[in-house]
Amino acid sequence: MGQPTHARNTGWWRSAVIYQVYVRSFADGDGDGTGDLAGVRARLPYLAELGVDALWFNPWYLSPMKDGGYDVADYRAIDPAFGTLAEAEKLIAEARELGILTIVDIVPNHVSDQHPWFRAALAGGPERELFHFRRGRGELPPNAWRSQFGGPAWTRVEDGDWYLHLFAPEQPDLNWAHPAVRQEHEDILRFWWERGVAGVRVDSAALLVKDPLLPDFTEGRDPHPYVDRDELHDVYRSWRAVADEYGGIFVGEVWLPDTERFARYLRPDELHTAFNFAFMACPWDARRLRASIDGTLAAHAPVGAPATWVLCNHDVTRTVTRYGRTDTGFDFAAKAFGTPTDLALGTRRARAAALLSLALPGAVYVYQGEELGLPEADVPRDRIEDPMHFRSGGMDPGRDGCRVPLPWTSEAPHAGFGSLEEPWLPQPAGWSAYAVDRQRDDPDSMLALYRAAIAARPVFGDGPLTWLPSPDGVLAFARAEGVICVVNLAATPTELPARHELLLSSGPLDDRGRLPQDTAAWLRA
Ligand code: NOJ
Repeated sequence: MGQPTHARNTGWWRSAVIYQVYVRSFADGDGDGTGDLAGVRARLPYLAELGVDALWFNPWYLSPMKDGGYDVADYRAIDPAFGTLAEAEKLIAEARELGILTIVDIVPNHVSDQHPWFRAALAGGPERELFHFRRGRGELPPNAWRSQFGGPAWTRVEDGDWYLHLFAPEQPDLNWAHPAVRQEHEDILRFWWERGVAGVRVDSAALLVKDPLLPDFTEGRDPHPYVDRDELHDVYRSWRAVADEYGGIFVGEVWLPDTERFARYLRPDELHTAFNFAFMACPWDARRLRASIDGTLAAHAPVGAPATWVLCNHDVTRTVTRYGRTDTGFDFAAKAFGTPTDLALGTRRARAAALLSLALPGAVYVYQGEELGLPEADVPRDRIEDPMHFRSGGMDPGRDGCRVPLPWTSEAPHAGFGSLEEPWLPQPAGWSAYAVDRQRDDPDSMLALYRAAIAARPVFGDGPLTWLPSPDGVLAFARAEGVICVVNLAATPTELPARHELLLSSGPLDDRGRLPQDTAAWLRA
């Protein structure tokens, strides 16, 4: 993409490589055990060298951290554990000087229970209207909705009323039928765009609007009382108008199985992009991956939006671990302690998947540590912080296993994360083996593969994808200018097309120049 001029819609987001920074676990600049903005600023050269176009920061706002910062107490302040607003402004500017844009994460569905609005609501003020407070049904909550983290979606307050929270009780849902809620979020968007950010991720984007009658959910009955309601599109149309004033873009967190409903969020006057969770959850299976890619492209084409390609994020099992299991798909409900994993196999597949996703048309998200091939860590039960674990009655391992502090320097304490004492989540034994300094000069490392692939990716241009004839279990497609990508998921090695130069491969070819199982290659005519 080169040096960005101004964040006008130059289209950078249509094919960008976007690196997700989970600040808490990226790098600890002040040594207190928690990653921070100082840590990110010090590592900007690393990100520039990796070649990414933009950074998406998980919420960095003032927060009691009951859900890793997705419980926001003040959307205009940086949490003191991370730094200050002035530092965030410096970080945004410094990144931009290196050609890297910034995406912030806005959480519109809910606030922290420490947010001034909710405190005033608890004190009995008119702010109750900004949330969903209701009388119960006798001793029962107003309806039977379940929290996404398990347990009831209602908590009772002192005067007997209940309030709705689709996530943890410390995350009360806002009432999007109230004009003040809409006004406040448009102001928050302006606040960040005025600070130079190029984009906004929209958390839980399909959940904001609730049926005002709050009816119980009946399987198969449309519309759903709180998922994907039509009224949402009006919200995003007005957000888009604000974004356009600044040339800012959106990426929506839209989990919807119906691709046609999904694509509605990406109409030209709504969100620019949304995460492709169908691809992220897809098992390592050639037929299913091809169907997922085709389904994605077919869904995006009519609305003219670019696809995104995601292999993991801060909510799901890390890629090398997922691909090293019998079930290589992702499903929250299937998470369990002690799932057998073959990390060597998973790593081989994750390398091939990196070349696959970086060759597809659209934007690619890379979650911090993915470029190091980090596995999901086993976090000791007494150190787990994720509410998902607790609200499952301790059955679900939760999401902390993909949030463990990054290893930077193998010989330094805490693998060079920067903490003087134990970091907020413990790093497992052997974490230093993945450290950046170990991988930097090793041409066979995951880091070297990501760097080489991101650097070479522009050869694919932004044209369409054309499938090439290939044996069962092999994905082969051409992009612009005769550049092709071949991924072999079959047990037998596959011939590569003749008269093509090998640009990059995720692993060695066999002694007859064929592409082995779980390996990908990029070639040029
Ligand atoms: C989605 C975020 O990615 C996740 O981490 C969070 O727990 C929920 N939304 C609630 O904000």
